[in-house]
Amino acid sequence: MGFGTRAVHSGEEPDLPASGDVVVPIHLSATFARRLADKPTSGLEYSRTGNPTRTALERRLASLEGAKHALAFSSGMAAETTLLLSVLKSGDHIVAENDLYGGTVRLFERTLKKFGVTVSYVDTRKPSEVRRAVRSKTKVVWLESPTNPLMHIADIRKISSIARQAGAITVVDNTFSSPFLQSPLALGATVAVHSTTKYIGGHSDVVGGAVMLSDSELHGTLKFNQNALGAVPSPFDCFLVLRGSKTLHLRMERHSENAQRVAEFLESHPRFSAVHYPGLRSHPQRALAKSQMRLPGGMISAEMKGGSQAVRRFLSRLRLFSLAESLGGVESLVEQPATMTHESLPRQRRLALGIGEGLVRFSVGIEDGDDLIADLKSALS
Ligand SMILES: Cc1ncc(COP(=O)(O)O)c(C=O)c1O
Repeated sequence: MGFGTRAVHSGEEPDLPASGDVVVPIHLSATFARRLADKPTSGLEYSRTGNPTRTALERRLASLEGAKHALAFSSGMAAETTLLLSVLKSGDHIVAENDLYGGTVRLFERTLKKFGVTVSYVDTRKPSEVRRAVRSKTKVVWLESPTNPLMHIADIRKISSIARQAGAITVVDNTFSSPFLQSPLALGATVAVHSTTKYIGGHSDVVGGAVMLSDSELHGTLKFNQNALGAVPSPFDCFLVLRGSKTLHLRMERHSENAQRVAEFLESHPRFSAVHYPGLRSHPQRALAKSQMRLPGGMISAEMKGGSQAVRRFLSRLRLFSLAESLGGVESLVEQPATMTHESLPRQRRLALGIGEGLVRFSVGIEDGDDLIADLKSALS
């Protein structure tokens, strides 16, 4: 079935003949009664191990990502942590994109390092850099595409094949694209991870994460660790993500339409020296983005002239774009990566990557495009 049909129906069959609910209820019970001591009568035991609202969400997420399995977590970072603790041991090595979400770098550098895991950062725009960086101990190649915040594109097909030959799995953090715009597993990746806080939830009202994969053996290990580590989402949070996911396809179309307009507007404006958006003709990897993404998405970054002073003045004068971290909600957000989302990166590393104080990141929402452009014009004037 098509994406829209799966977004509305998968994982949620009407509960007949019991109640006829067309929406999966929020099962709040922490534990489940059984008739015999040695066998759970309903198959359910305890809510950390399994919960019917979470099962519905996991079925929906697997279906949307084109995966056999999905596991839901209490945040994107909980999903990443459970995945990495499941596939790595002391002495193992990760090859990762340079321009990653700062929280992922923090997990690599401040937490996993203590357990003897090492990371090599490369520019995944060049698959040859991945080939050069893999070693016998490399277990994971970690990608984001498009990257945060510079909107670089990694060739998922090529890099997954390099990783496979080296005996490593490829993980794609697919948060920026959402399952509607990009299907990493179909391009050869082993695992897709998401912060469902972002586009999948879509309404900035819940924090969640997910791992999607088709490898049944790895799924078994992850399911064991989902229970063993315990970073599971509450039934109410599962309901919110399920509810948000029903309109993912419609929202992503509008996010992309508005972002295209905003990117073209910023590119034509004399106060900006560069705009990074894969839908622009000027994006150096537009063709690659087109070959692996259905639409260019809702995220843009742009280099403003005049440095930090100009950026601060601009940010304080926007009215519809709220100055806030996070992304992927229905409302437009704007932020300065150097002082907000990427503040935890050492300054030298940030500057070497090209994340200076003039860089502004936009998460373009689903409001009326004319109003967004008017807000930008007014703040810039
Ligand atoms: C690309 C990306 N991956 C992962 C995360 C972490 O997700 P969460 O905040 O839900 O833990 C974020 C959060 O901003 C993100 O932007």
